[in-house]
Amino acid sequence: MTRVLVLNGPNLGRLGSREPDVYGNQDLSALRVLLTDLAADGVEIDLRQTDDEGELIHWLHEAVDAQNDVILNPAAFTHYSYGLRDAAALVTKAGQKLVEVHISNPHAREEFRHRSVVSGIATGVIAGFGFDSYTLALRAIGAAA
Ligand code: DQA
Repeated sequence: MTRVLVLNGPNLGRLGSREPDVYGNQDLSALRVLLTDLAADGVEIDLRQTDDEGELIHWLHEAVDAQNDVILNPAAFTHYSYGLRDAAALVTKAGQKLVEVHISNPHAREEFRHRSVVSGIATGVIAGFGFDSYTLALRAIGAAA
C-alpha cells in the first residue's frame, strides 16, 4: 500500500458547523469518505486533524521518514508558522510531494490570509474549490483512480 497523509490544521475539526457559508456543511468524516472512494487501488488515505502545531510538525517528520506524499491544509498556521514551513520543506526536499490546499480562497478574504509561509516550499497550491481542493490535490500527486 502507498499511504497519502492528508493533514489538517487548527479548527478544521469543526468543519460542518464552522462558518458553513465559507467552509460548507460537510465534516472531515465526509472528506475521508470522498478521498478514500477516489483513491487509486493500493493507495491508503490517512486523514488526520490537529489543533496542535507541534503535532502537525511531528506528522510531517513522519511523512519524511515513511516517504509519504502529503496533502496539507495548514489552516491558520499557513499565515505565520515558520516551524511548520520548515517541517513541510523537509518533505519536498526529500523528494516527496506536498500539496498545500485550502477550502476557501484565502486571497479573496482578509488581508492577513493573503500571505502563506508554506507556499514557497510546496510542490503546488490548490485553493478555493471546497473539498474539491483535496480531490484535485489527490489527482495532482497521481494517487487518484
Ligand atoms: C483555510 C484558510 C485559512 O485562512 C483559515 O485560517 C482556515 C482554513 C481554508 O481551508 O480555507 O482555517 O486553510
